[in-house]
Amino acid sequence: MAERKLFKTVGVLGLGHVGLPTAVGFAELGWQVVGTDSDSAKVSLIADGHCPFYEPDLEPLLRKNLAEGRLKVTCDVGEAVRESDILFVCVGTPQKPDGSPDLSQVEAVIRTVAENLNGYKLIVEKSTVPVQTAQWIKRTILRYAGSGTEFDVASNPEFLREGTAVHDFFYPDRIVIGVESERARNWLLELYKPLNAPIVVTDVNTAEIIKHAANSFLALKISFINMISDLCEAVGADVTEVARGIGLDPRIGPQFLQAGIGYGGYCLPKDLKAFIHIAEEHRVDFSLLKEVERVNEARIDRFVRKVQQALWVLKEKTIAIWGLAFKPNTDDIREAPSLKVISRLLDEGAKLRLYDPAAMNNVRQVFPENPPSLVYCKSAIEAATNAHAILIVTEWEEFRKIDWAKVKQVIALPIVVDGRNCLDPKTVREAGFEYYGMGRK
Ligand code: UDX
Repeated sequence: MAERKLFKTVGVLGLGHVGLPTAVGFAELGWQVVGTDSDSAKVSLIADGHCPFYEPDLEPLLRKNLAEGRLKVTCDVGEAVRESDILFVCVGTPQKPDGSPDLSQVEAVIRTVAENLNGYKLIVEKSTVPVQTAQWIKRTILRYAGSGTEFDVASNPEFLREGTAVHDFFYPDRIVIGVESERARNWLLELYKPLNAPIVVTDVNTAEIIKHAANSFLALKISFINMISDLCEAVGADVTEVARGIGLDPRIGPQFLQAGIGYGGYCLPKDLKAFIHIAEEHRVDFSLLKEVERVNEARIDRFVRKVQQALWVLKEKTIAIWGLAFKPNTDDIREAPSLKVISRLLDEGAKLRLYDPAAMNNVRQVFPENPPSLVYCKSAIEAATNAHAILIVTEWEEFRKIDWAKVKQVIALPIVVDGRNCLDPKTVREAGFEYYGMGRK
């Protein structure tokens, strides 16, 4: 159990994909936590023990910590500020049309913090923000709260992945804290002590850069392996084996070398754009990262071409799409490759049968059901029924385990295009299917 000498209450401002796992995580570590969000419907859902989005293992922990009194939620942001000693800023930083981040939610919440300062506060940025945002936060507080107020601003970037956020909170590979005072340093070290994780303590600007650099490097790795995948395809090599062959080199590492349809989600595409934008503002040539983006955008074309090569004419063909979320174990479809694939195939006149274990309700908001062009199905098998091909767009575990003999019985043409290289080609072919992966034989 953590000691509680230095501070009493941790406030979490913003209860989305970052804020909610953070609030629940700190409560589970034994801290007293108050979470707040300006969306009152979301707050009442959370107060009743419901997670507003799909995140494995989060809901039971949320309920436990609400019941045991370590976590409370309120839509009164000011109240949360007044009650807390440490304030984690976890509000959204969406993308503006020019690629730069929209920091209006950060500014708004910081103004509320300034108006409710009732003693020393440690304000910690957790949302992904451009370097030097902490300086603006400081300036904003001084402007709205006046001098004589006592506070510190620190940076503690989050590295939680959607779908494994709870696990990532309790077993981080590192915690980064950027601080400017001894007090901020000691408080954050104390807060994270129960995790017993490696901690990188640095200055605030450096911590802000670490977050953008990490996500940009991950995106770069994915685009790199996707280029290798195209070359493998051209010469008859296998990218999954190349990934294994290079990934065993500890200097390269095996993760984020899965070739396929490209990266999506709320973080990688947005953070990459923001990083390019910041670099340009500071006259640093980051054309390397622009190329990473270009390669990623071209993945959809490549995938659709592959479907065309497998099926020839797409008009009037019935196509099952397995997987809609931007990655498995989430219902998040922000920047999901599936959305672009659906739109391209509908333009070609194909009839789509969609299935995803978690994300169908979200996709329905973008593409309402419209039979026979677009149908939502209750299972992978139902989606495959009478289809001329199955496209794997998200690598959910249930697709790996599917009974191909059963699929064969219901499908019209046994063709599988695996946009995530998640199936074993041999198993699928032995079941009587034509199998097309990305950069593999
Ligand atoms: C990312 C970072 O990993 C996390 O540390 C940060 O805090 C938030 O942003 P997340 O957006 O949840 O997490 O997804 P991530 O697991 O990074 O995957 C991003 C995208 O890359 C997904 O679309 C995924 O399918 C794709 N991907 C990932 C690949 O195409 N190939 C890979 O090898 C790995």
